[in-house]
Amino acid sequence: MANTVIIGAQWGDEGKGKIVDMLSAQCSLVVRFHGGNNAGHTIRVLGEETILHLIPSGILHRDTICLIANGVVLDPSVFLKEADKLAARGIDVSPARLGISKKTHLILPYHKQLDNAREAKRAGRKIGTTGRGIGPCYEDKSARVGIRAGDLTNPVLLREKIRHALLEKNTLLRELYKFEPLNPETVADDVLALAPRLTPYLTDVEARIDEAAARGGDILFEGAQGVHLDIDHGTYPFVTSSNTVSGNAAAGSGMPPSFFTRIVGVTKAYTTRVGSGPFPTELLDDAGTYLREKGHEYGATTGRPRRCGWLDTVILRASVRLNGFTDIAMTKLDVLQNLPVLRICVAYEFEGKRCERIPQEEGVLADVVPIYEEMPGFEDDVSGCTGFEQLPGTARAYVRRVEELAGVGISMISVGSERRQTIMR
Ligand code: IMP
Repeated sequence: MANTVIIGAQWGDEGKGKIVDMLSAQCSLVVRFHGGNNAGHTIRVLGEETILHLIPSGILHRDTICLIANGVVLDPSVFLKEADKLAARGIDVSPARLGISKKTHLILPYHKQLDNAREAKRAGRKIGTTGRGIGPCYEDKSARVGIRAGDLTNPVLLREKIRHALLEKNTLLRELYKFEPLNPETVADDVLALAPRLTPYLTDVEARIDEAAARGGDILFEGAQGVHLDIDHGTYPFVTSSNTVSGNAAAGSGMPPSFFTRIVGVTKAYTTRVGSGPFPTELLDDAGTYLREKGHEYGATTGRPRRCGWLDTVILRASVRLNGFTDIAMTKLDVLQNLPVLRICVAYEFEGKRCERIPQEEGVLADVVPIYEEMPGFEDDVSGCTGFEQLPGTARAYVRRVEELAGVGISMISVGSERRQTIMR
């Protein structure tokens, strides 16, 4: 039995959706354990594209059950819209296949208002959030004033909690941000209007995982965002508001750390980032534009162009250490085709010294200079390769060098967006 965690090894958008979709074919359960609809997982099956923000990517496999665990923050209307879209395509999204933990915190309109109001006010130091209310919802969870999915079954408690939360939020919105205050009764009415559709999905996620494990099924834990957006270990303050490292698969789902047997890190063959924050290997020249256009590097959630750059193995090595990857999936190798030279960042230089690790002081990563190794590129189209030996020699050498630098084997290589365009090693 393999209880596998899938983690984005960079700044998100590594192509985790495709890897989860593929691995979940053998799984009885897929669990999302953190983040919310700031994520955007794009999956392409037989030419049809599906973008999922909240519902686990395993939903495309008929026999897989998908659970949204306690560590997630869930926007009720986004969840229902996403479920409706899938249902319209004939995908079963009934509560038999999809569940939400009663402990999952809900994103309400004031979280989105505050997210956007704060970003607007942060002139010059914007985080570039997705504007989905993620940060303010996690703040409320930590401040112990959050609204949880289980509260939907207790309208009296839910109203009281929303009134209490809005006392403070409305003061902030009105006085500091000059936004219209929100009426607590309207906010409560709106969310309660969705309750009849949402409550059938409420479930005891830990019990469901326990039961599936007892039956011997494989379980997949689907990470969102990426390691370097982690609230503790990422490029603070340009991070998201949850722990994105593999350790949070435990706290975010209610399972003990000893439960997990395989931890797969997903990295692109290069690097991308959306939003603000340091990015040492960012390419602001034609090579960056080439990667963006060839790799269709536009955000699945916000449509923003992604910043593109060379693969950074200082970042990747830190991810290996923080997460304990057992193996790595490399995505988008095909995008590197036709670049005459491939650069891999192996270390940084800062104030005349070489550093092999990410500096931890705020702001320093923005000032390091990457030290590159160069390797010859490849011209052949690799998008039809189904075995490692079919790749051109220079592409194989690139993959092997990344393995050496990361210190972990690359078990899967994706050469296109379709399921079949994946080399298993
Ligand atoms: P938030 O998660 O919306 O608060 O945004 C915080 C930062 O994380 C911003 O730089 C976002 O662009 C980034 N971010 C959040 N979710 C994702 C994701 O799924 N992929 C890539 N970047 C993300």
